[in-house]
Amino acid sequence: MRKILGIETSCDETAAAVYEDTQGILSSVLYSQTDIHKLYGGVVPELASRSHLQKINPIVQSALNEAHAKLDNIDVIAVTNKPGLPGSLLIGVCFAKALAYALDKPIIGINHIEGHVFSPFLTNPNIPFPHICLTASGGHTSIYLVRGFGDYELLGTTRDDAAGEAFDKVAKLMGLPYPGGPVIEKLATQVNFVDFCKYPRTKLDNLDFSFSGLKTAVLYDLVNKGAYDMKEKKFLRPHDDQLKQEVSSSLLVCITDIFKNQIKKALKAHPEAKAITLVGGVACNKYIRKELGELCQKLGREFFVPAPKYCTDNAAMIAFVGNYKAEQGKFSDLELDILK
Ligand code: KG4
Ligand code: ZN
Repeated sequence: MRKILGIETSCDETAAAVYEDTQGILSSVLYSQTDIHKLYGGVVPELASRSHLQKINPIVQSALNEAHAKLDNIDVIAVTNKPGLPGSLLIGVCFAKALAYALDKPIIGINHIEGHVFSPFLTNPNIPFPHICLTASGGHTSIYLVRGFGDYELLGTTRDDAAGEAFDKVAKLMGLPYPGGPVIEKLATQVNFVDFCKYPRTKLDNLDFSFSGLKTAVLYDLVNKGAYDMKEKKFLRPHDDQLKQEVSSSLLVCITDIFKNQIKKALKAHPEAKAITLVGGVACNKYIRKELGELCQKLGREFFVPAPKYCTDNAAMIAFVGNYKAEQGKFSDLELDILK
């Protein structure tokens, strides 16, 4: 029996979890800083690291309590050490190193993206290899071929903004709160996912993505409709629900189409892939989940997506990766450092 303590502080969530190799997730606890950053329309790195510093101790303690575990029962400490905001990563890594040193336990540095890539296994242990994984969050949008635990190849990635960033930036244009994805989804639901505005589906020859043009297209659409003042950088129709719904719906349909195109292309390039997984914060979106699920059914592939609490940043996925790395004997040491 192996118990892993997972710690995640790469961005604006302070998270800790306990995973056990035979029983799975014993606890997964999280403090979200959304209310702190909401005021600024995005994550403020300095505020993020200060908040991690305040919360890390109580969050780790409650993850242990919920798992009915004591530090002495922990066998391995797994901590996100890349990529992320340096000041945020440092809090988790320093805390984990101090624990590992004081308790004389092994430590493993975990790649946050690898955590997302394997997050569907937290709720579905039988996902076949090889499969294609679409990772879509606020910081990353990439597509991987996943051959086994820890064995994955990057097939394409965004050249500019991440998909979640496109939701966040468009929400900000319309004066909507951060994070934008859930608000845009709610507005889009009210007009039943109709594509009113026909925003461009940026098509690249390979499996890369590009979302920055999409934000610009929405901006010019709003300007042309007299709804945005470029000079003042101000949305002029905060009470026009119909406009907000139409833009949200069109944006969501557009991003979903871009995902569908790239999944189809990835499957053409790798027909051996037996399944598709969708991970990261954007994977919370019910419309995207439904549309990609239906596409996979048509293409004769299984489709897996984690429970929403494991789509967004969490430490259970970090502990899960820590478990198979420990099994593979891939440990770090106390020289472990952060990497942006
Ligand atoms: O994975 P995550 O929690 O953090 C990063 O690693 O970035 O993802 C956060 C991103 C935000 O951009 C947020 O707007 C987006 O995920 N998101 C959504 C939804 N819920 C969160 N995007 C679309 N629809 C949602 N329901
Ligand atoms: Zn993430």
